[in-house]
Amino acid sequence: MPWKTLDDMDLTGKRVLVRVDINVPVENGLVSDDTRIRKIAPTVMDILAKGGRPILVAHFGRPKGKVVLDMTLRICVPALEAALGRKVRFIETLEAAENLTEEARAADVLLLENIRFHPGEEQNDPEFAARLAALGDVYCNDAFSAAHRAHASTEALARLLPACAGRLMQAELEALEAALGQPQRPVVAVVGGAKVSTKLALLGNLVEKVDHLVIGGGMANTFLAAQGLGVGTSLCEHDMAETARQIMAKAQAMGCEILLPTDVVVARAFEAHAENSTVAATHCPEDTMILDAGPASVARILAAFDGAKTLIWNGPLGAFEIAPFDAATNAAAAHAAKLSQTGQLVSVAGGGDTVAALNKAGAADGFSYISTAGGAFLEWMEGKLLPGVAALDQAA
Ligand code: 3PG
Repeated sequence: MPWKTLDDMDLTGKRVLVRVDINVPVENGLVSDDTRIRKIAPTVMDILAKGGRPILVAHFGRPKGKVVLDMTLRICVPALEAALGRKVRFIETLEAAENLTEEARAADVLLLENIRFHPGEEQNDPEFAARLAALGDVYCNDAFSAAHRAHASTEALARLLPACAGRLMQAELEALEAALGQPQRPVVAVVGGAKVSTKLALLGNLVEKVDHLVIGGGMANTFLAAQGLGVGTSLCEHDMAETARQIMAKAQAMGCEILLPTDVVVARAFEAHAENSTVAATHCPEDTMILDAGPASVARILAAFDGAKTLIWNGPLGAFEIAPFDAATNAAAAHAAKLSQTGQLVSVAGGGDTVAALNKAGAADGFSYISTAGGAFLEWMEGKLLPGVAALDQAA
């Protein structure tokens, strides 16, 4: 790997600025999903074990350079303390961080207030970055899920201090490299979700890199319509038909097989347990909408997984939020998990709704790797160099 890890750093007595992503969902003032908080614990514990003093730097929401009281990171302190099993001292301002008392300096773990309260963060302002850098001796970036942002705490700091990747960043990069960088072939990608328009760059990149591309969810309707098939009242971006045809042509030229549904589950209403039927994709009734892939399509997807060595997954195959239109997503996810558990498949999933869909299917634990990243995972699937990762590479 081109970047350094915690293993390459001497941290004894050093103040370590750790960029973490604890941008977690909150409901009624409480953290409702602490996954991201638990995932950074190994990095913080390793830093402590190596004699370092972690100072956590993170954002929460999009306050746009201003103090927004309900975007305080204080809300994460109890969950952080639970995940780390030790006290976390919350530092409200940069001035306070610069003027810490000896007692506070000796505290095991410090957490700075939402770094996006400062305009210099998103502007990647060199002066602001220098001010941050003065708070530490070493920089550790453990925020893969924020690495698509060229901000002071995700990018500039890597140029100002000795820099390394944290354990979560390391695990993410290794998993992604195994899935798309140097994968074992054949590679299958599953791309689902509502719209082609939000995943154009991603589809364009994948058809160059994978052997089979399964397209599901609402975006599959756009592809079916682009082939001249009727899709009734389905979610469909008819204005993307030409783009869809271009993606299919590119796939053909690159030797990538696109798997679209051959049978579909249709209903007249977008409602849980709406009366539904399964029809050939060529015969979607005009007054119905496609809400899931049918059993024959699922069988083809499972067979593609059986023949593959690597799977990369982003987006659900159908309207997974409402039963029974979660059937294709659930069946494909369960099969991928099974193959991963027996060592036949390396499976990596991430981005947006994906983790929710795989959790709902009860299959997430069976995957080889589930990314905690949303936008960063998508940009990486698009083949983009993420500024936070590039800065670590250059620092090494
Ligand atoms: C995320 O939640 O995906 C990351 O924390 C990045 O957040 P952002 O899209 O506000 O930069």
